[in-house]
Amino acid sequence: MNYSIFSEFSDTLNCNWKIAHDNTLDDYHVAIAHKDTLHKEQGPIKNYRYFFSKFCNVLVTPLSSKGNLYTFGLLPWTHLIIWPGKGIVLINYLPKNINQCILEIKLASASLCENDLENWEKGILEFLGEDKIIVESVHKSYLENFKLGPPNRLEQRIIHWQKIYKDFLNASGISF
Ligand SMILES: [Fe+2]
Repeated sequence: MNYSIFSEFSDTLNCNWKIAHDNTLDDYHVAIAHKDTLHKEQGPIKNYRYFFSKFCNVLVTPLSSKGNLYTFGLLPWTHLIIWPGKGIVLINYLPKNINQCILEIKLASASLCENDLENWEKGILEFLGEDKIIVESVHKSYLENFKLGPPNRLEQRIIHWQKIYKDFLNASGISF
């Protein structure tokens, strides 16, 4: 298939990149934060499946429409979504400073007509807008002396990344 990029955009998020990154790896917020958008496509968490390699993980969710949606987590802050019948989404959370990151999105498709591309892009922007509210609120809470809870021990994909970062930091001589 002849994929081509049809849309690129970026936005400044007022949060540390790791908050945005972890949020994208988190499954449990989808039914709450995206109940009228992404959740309608992805369905219940009980149908989610995960696969891991040393430096990569993938979430597979059966779509209500057709096929499986594949969400790859890639080092260091990248997510690649393969959306059956629509195309590919590339998401990066590029660090700007400790309090901000740049959300960078690229959409590619091989088969959709212009109208369907517009609707797909609109849906993606809608759920990313919902995520922006969450991640900026979380960051604001940290700045306001929010008492930190324990590290996330529910999400297999986040735990996987925590280990990767820890190994890299340890290898760099940084311990915590
Ligand atoms: Fe989200």
